[in-house]
Amino acid sequence: MNIQQNISLKAYNTFGIDVFAKRFVSVDSVYNLQKILAQEKNIFLLSGGSNMLLTQNINKLVVYINIKGISVDFENENEVFLTVNSGENWHEFVVWCISQNYGGLENLSLIPGHVGTSPIQNIGAYGVEVKDVITKVEGLYINNSKKFQFTNKECNFDYRNSIFKNELKDKVVITSVSFKLSKKQHQLHTNYGAIEQQLTAKNIINPTIKDVSDAVIYIRKSKLPDPKKIGNSGSFFKNPVISSEKFIKLQEKYPTIPFYKTEANNNTASTFSYKIPAGWLIETVGFKGKRFGDCGVHEKQALVLVNYNNAQGNDILSLAKKIQKTILDTFEIKLEIEVNIIK
Ligand code: EPU
Repeated sequence: MNIQQNISLKAYNTFGIDVFAKRFVSVDSVYNLQKILAQEKNIFLLSGGSNMLLTQNINKLVVYINIKGISVDFENENEVFLTVNSGENWHEFVVWCISQNYGGLENLSLIPGHVGTSPIQNIGAYGVEVKDVITKVEGLYINNSKKFQFTNKECNFDYRNSIFKNELKDKVVITSVSFKLSKKQHQLHTNYGAIEQQLTAKNIINPTIKDVSDAVIYIRKSKLPDPKKIGNSGSFFKNPVISSEKFIKLQEKYPTIPFYKTEANNNTASTFSYKIPAGWLIETVGFKGKRFGDCGVHEKQALVLVNYNNAQGNDILSLAKKIQKTILDTFEIKLEIEVNIIK
């Protein structure tokens, strides 16, 4: 394996932050990954780089996970079971599934990043989360190179969360993800407002998975900046979840506040929580479209922070902190950063 020196990571993170890796290696097999783990104690794992903010040069060995390949494990008339190696590009995988008429991932079209990191933050969009179709996640423990295999349940998936962001943070490398997808009678999720509108605008009454994917691609392109053109990491913050008491007070003051009522543990009204779009909070306090030097808040989606060209990670982090403070002072809501901050 070729260990390179002083490599710029600008092309390896969707924020386009120009920091350097002192040493860098691209790994294309589980076997080679095991070898690296056995010989190096201080590693920094890099995948699609779509959910991280780099704030300084990396002195550890940067291990770029480039293990490719898709295999069909089993299929019958109705379903297909696939295992996808972690270095596959997420959107290319989704496009391939649609070309095969495999349903389940169409709402997750155009999400940047690689397959291997999709379970970590349980990527989600337009009413679907990747946990809905994952059957198994496999990988290696970093400390002893031993293999692990987790069922969907063992991954402890939650909103933008999983075991890989908690107990197993920095302890494992995911090498493949397995999915169960439909081959017919696809369960479409089209009730998200913008998807419905887009399908209606195109006069589509009985959408195919390709129609849904096209609608999602259209919506994402119209709202979210293309990381190839303007550096960004998608939603920078999580949508906060607040209690009904707090929500009622806020609604009195801001009658148009958007919200999603989240699942209750039982059917009594007091156990409901309310998820508030952070984009609305940020827009309401006036940050939407604002530029501060080389970074800023996207003009069409306030939840997305952007690097216009040469912003440093710390510029973006300072902006994020300013936003968090303003939201706390105005709404008494603590905005949680969703992106991994690499310090
Ligand atoms: N809104 C505003 N102003 C804005 C942005 C949003 O007022 O600038 C309000 C509007 O009321 C809008 C609502 O927020 O209707 C929801 O906005 P949007 O549909 O764009 O969704 P979101 O809640 O802001 C989440 C995910 C996105 C995902 C979309 C669609 C999180 C943190 N983000 O955003 O995921 O694409 O839903 O399902 O949950 C990502 O994680 O990187 C990401 C892009």
